[in-house]
Amino acid sequence: KYPDKVTLVEVGPRDGLQNEPTALSIETKVALIEQLAQAGIKRIEAGSFVSPKWVPQMANSEAVFQQLTRLPSVVYSALTPNLRGFDSALAVNVDEVAIFGAASESFSQKNINCSIAESLARFEAVIDAAKANNIPVRGYVSCVLGCPYEGDISPQSVLEVTQSLLDMGCYEVSLGDTIGTGTPVKTTNLLNVLLKDIDASKLAVHFHDTYGQALANILIALQHGIAVIDSAVAGLGGCPYAKGASGNVATEDVLFMLNGMNIETGIDLHKVVSAGQMITAELGRISQSKSALALAAH
Ligand code: HMG
Ligand code: MG
Repeated sequence: KYPDKVTLVEVGPRDGLQNEPTALSIETKVALIEQLAQAGIKRIEAGSFVSPKWVPQMANSEAVFQQLTRLPSVVYSALTPNLRGFDSALAVNVDEVAIFGAASESFSQKNINCSIAESLARFEAVIDAAKANNIPVRGYVSCVLGCPYEGDISPQSVLEVTQSLLDMGCYEVSLGDTIGTGTPVKTTNLLNVLLKDIDASKLAVHFHDTYGQALANILIALQHGIAVIDSAVAGLGGCPYAKGASGNVATEDVLFMLNGMNIETGIDLHKVVSAGQMITAELGRISQSKSALALAAH
């Protein structure tokens, strides 16, 4: 039994572009986000308020939010690792923010320069500020199916961090397979542990397609009742603190699969393909989406 409806969270403008060597102009980012919204995507992660020394590609996020023409039906969100990032996000009226932790101590240190426990304390401050301003907070947990520094990660440690983020007040936690080493059996084992204590409606999945396992893993997540899927147009993406991590699963490929299953998304696949063609031309690279390549050839 699959969900009747699925919500896609488009992370291309953030996760996709944070790792691209080509710096994109504010105008190009704005055009991308606007095209994705026009395609019917209802949740778009449009930028990130992090240190520009750590992720220079996201340094123009403030200007992107300022110049964006927003559709009222769309939620535009951004990453905010600390209070400083939250204040910047608030100043440009971000609709929703996300805090990002990890199930691996080493990854937490490399990505946000603090331990898991320290990160949760920082996030508490962000959540308090967000609550005071009526801004919903999404949580991320990275390395749920493997860590670039520690290898295997136990489902129990994923459960603990996920539960902490939900207890603090995140309305949803997105499970990040940061390096894409998850396989369907591993994904099943993880979800069986998590879903004993957590309702599927509180979870989203975020697969990087490094080893080509993302769609298979998404199918497993759907079978477990998870109905929120993160993806990036043209399969853009990667994480600067996870070497070798390739892009997120391509939005076009997820849509082709969901359309074929008669699962409703409200998104126009062809418009997403066009947005992908625009951004891959700007970046001078080819799309990582097989569906996009196939549809473009027709
Ligand atoms: P830190 O060095 O420990 O913090 O960084 P700090 O407070 O000592 O600040 C250091 C410098 O950064 C200072 O500047 C601060 O002002 C500045 P300086 O005095 O040296 O000139 N700073 C900031 N500037 C702008 N905005 C801010 C901000 N905070 C501090 N919000 C910090 C800690 C978290 C800031 C840093 O480690 C950082 O920015 N990390 C970036 C991490 C990141 O963006 N990673 C990629 C996103 S996560 C991801 O991709 C995974 C995900 O997709 C899920 C998955 O796939 O698993 C979500
Ligand atoms: Mg990611």
